[in-house]
Amino acid sequence: MPATTPVLLSRRRFLAAGGAAAALLVADRLAGSWPAPARGLGYPFTLGVASGDPDPGGVVLWTRLAPAPLQPDGGMPARAVPVDWQVAADPGLARIVRGGTVLARPGLGHAVHVEVDGLDPARTYWYRFRAAGEISPVGRTRTLPAPRASPARLALAVVSCQHFEHGYYCAYRHLAGEDLDLVLHLGDYLYETPPSEGQPRRHATPAPTDLAGYRRRHAQYRTDPDLQSAHAAVPFVLAWDDHEVDNDYAGDWSERWDPPAAFRRRRAAAYRAYWEHLPLRRRSRPRGPAARLYRRLRFGDLAELAVLDTRQYRDDQPCDSNGVGRAQVVAGCRERLDPGRTLLGAGQRRWLLAGLDRSRARWNVVAQQLLMAELDMQPGRGLAHSSDGWDGYAADRGRILRFLAARRPSNPIVLGGDLHSFWVNDLKLDNHQPGAAVLASEFVGTSVSSWGPPYEPFRAHLADNPHVRFFDSRWRGYLRCVAGRGRWTTDLRVVDTVERPDAPVRTLASFVVQHGRPGPQHA
Ligand SMILES: [Fe+2]
Repeated sequence: MPATTPVLLSRRRFLAAGGAAAALLVADRLAGSWPAPARGLGYPFTLGVASGDPDPGGVVLWTRLAPAPLQPDGGMPARAVPVDWQVAADPGLARIVRGGTVLARPGLGHAVHVEVDGLDPARTYWYRFRAAGEISPVGRTRTLPAPRASPARLALAVVSCQHFEHGYYCAYRHLAGEDLDLVLHLGDYLYETPPSEGQPRRHATPAPTDLAGYRRRHAQYRTDPDLQSAHAAVPFVLAWDDHEVDNDYAGDWSERWDPPAAFRRRRAAAYRAYWEHLPLRRRSRPRGPAARLYRRLRFGDLAELAVLDTRQYRDDQPCDSNGVGRAQVVAGCRERLDPGRTLLGAGQRRWLLAGLDRSRARWNVVAQQLLMAELDMQPGRGLAHSSDGWDGYAADRGRILRFLAARRPSNPIVLGGDLHSFWVNDLKLDNHQPGAAVLASEFVGTSVSSWGPPYEPFRAHLADNPHVRFFDSRWRGYLRCVAGRGRWTTDLRVVDTVERPDAPVRTLASFVVQHGRPGPQHA
């Protein structure tokens, strides 16, 4: 099915299709309760449409009015503009089931977040917007199954790391055509780097540091047609990593250790622009430099997804007294084992473990940004680790793994990103003790477009890391995961190149996890 069919209807047909809801809108207009329609703005839906954070009764619908997306104000006047929305039970939008009007306000960059409710569970819907006399492309979305349902199948894609300059979003072009319930985006939705030369594409604006800068950077990314088609085809569930704000930041600490008060202002601007541009619920809306992004989705009794935020609450990276504020490989670093240091923050960790303990779901998915498994990068004897991932915060990881060992939630699956490479791992408390129990299965997806790390040096580390079942950094792509009643399947999907937008896709490798037997196996 084509994901985005631009439907350009006359005002009369939009109203006719809208039925009662549209009639109500007209009545509101006649009663003079809305500002005069903005006319002559130009086409306002240049950033497409999106849906996200579904639940059994509804979903968030998103758009942003921006006739000139790279201008600081998006080309919009400094006043509120009414936006009509419709949800239909059919792709032609003949059977409208919900509709209404909201105001796109300049204070939120004329972004629109509609929290639709009253929908049926486990059902596909279509939606669109109208503003300034123009009608948006049609988006498709899907609600979650009812809490007591026993669905046979959950299909999701896992994406991360989409540096605009490094290449085209071929991954999204193919993902938009997959049969999916959800897309999980695990961070680096954009990169805050300045424009650079000699790459397939170029950032159009300087490195962002304030709200106007982050808005323009988001807007440029969202002009990409393949990203738009993926957003219009499937609901997204998103959580940020570092580049949405600043490379390798940690809580209140920027990469360059700016004064924390100044960095919190920058983080507030970045978080705000992120929320404005993505289909997130009101409960995730930032208040200054803080936003509650970690959350849980239940897919009947088949799966629960805990989505984590591994940036906002963390302590600074360990063993950085050499003056390096970003990730580095640290050898013999005792600080990384300090139980007083945290990656998740105590509140988020308690929330995660309490949820896992309560869960009756068959598959318990922990979706987060990083590689959770240990990666020893010192050949032979001795240990060396990256300071920015879970290895830099080993005590927090230990608490989670000991919980899994003690409480045995059903089939834990950890999903991650960040490394621009595929990793398929057994998660164990002790990777060097023969016969140590496999506590969970981990799948880390490669980047959508960001360059991968060098293959041979990383492959050489596998001898020291026997719990790593598979690694490859040579490909860009995504994970396609299907949870069934009896087994979980992960396909490593790769595109031939990101140098051009139409490269083909294929499956590099597939892994399965059998119900009741943790540990991925080659399919
Ligand atoms: Fe990245």
